[in-house]
Amino acid sequence: MTGRFDLTRRLPDGYFADALHTDVLKGLTGRPKTLPPKWFYDAHGSELFEEITRLPEYYPTRAEHAILSERCDEIAAATGARTLVELGSGSSRKTRLLLDSLLRHGTLERYAALDVSADALREAGEALCRDYPGLQVTGCVTDLETDLGMPGEAPGPRLVAFLGGTLGNLDGEARPAFYSALRKELRPGDALLMGADLVKDPAVLVPAYDDAQGVTAAFNKNVLSVLNRRLGAAFDLDAFEHRSVWNAEEERIEMRLRSRRAQTVALPALEMTAEFEEGEEVLTEIAVKFRRPALTAELAREGLEVSHWWTDAEERFALLLAVPA
Ligand code: AVJ
Repeated sequence: MTGRFDLTRRLPDGYFADALHTDVLKGLTGRPKTLPPKWFYDAHGSELFEEITRLPEYYPTRAEHAILSERCDEIAAATGARTLVELGSGSSRKTRLLLDSLLRHGTLERYAALDVSADALREAGEALCRDYPGLQVTGCVTDLETDLGMPGEAPGPRLVAFLGGTLGNLDGEARPAFYSALRKELRPGDALLMGADLVKDPAVLVPAYDDAQGVTAAFNKNVLSVLNRRLGAAFDLDAFEHRSVWNAEEERIEMRLRSRRAQTVALPALEMTAEFEEGEEVLTEIAVKFRRPALTAELAREGLEVSHWWTDAEERFALLLAVPA
């Protein structure tokens, strides 16, 4: 049986348009100016991100892939999952390692992907349907911060994967809320598989977010193209400079866009203009880097007990398995 790919939307029509309006209004009138990273990922932004994952400076994807390929059989044995749920699945490339292991293990029946990008879900979902006949593949367009959209009817035990270090996009206030929402979805026997990038020398971290070829710069500025297209805005991408900054106190990389000159930009859909001073910066992404004791503790506080912790040989990146306590 080759199942057709089934894509659902859990959020009401217009949710993303409203969210973009609210985020941009709030982000560009506040101080410091901010734009949430989820708006990077239109079709072009998703392509640029795929390109980033292949850059020599950008180690997280390769490090996580190395851990996963070494540990996927152990993960399959430890979880015996019948459903794999993937949060923020993107292109689902690393997913195949898990699918293969869980199928070899003989437990897997269903793969459910959740992502903000319908395009990414459709492309990945259709390919998986072709390559894994017999596996039930579903996609759900959602915003993980609002609705985890867990497929309730999916057979347990369920393994929820949150890979790629996307966790780092959430700040210290957003993470407990996210864990708590996730914990409520987990039943006894379910497990969480999470990737987390680790604190390391800024000389490694900063270039990972500011590569020599300028792909990350293009990715960062793409958020302005998204605003131009979706809000009729008039951002000149050349009038902004890409920055990758290590915030030592918060232990996070901050991606910023710095206005090269004083400028006023019209945002017709919001009936507003945004004023930028020369050198003023917009915070477009945080990428928090983690340490084992603190991450284990913050998960424990929300009822998630870390049962396995694996790193790559150079200890750049961690993959952890946690179970509801
Ligand atoms: C998708 C959030 C894991 O923080 O490394 C890569 C995104 N931004 N280069 C990251 C990203 C710039 C990425 N995450």
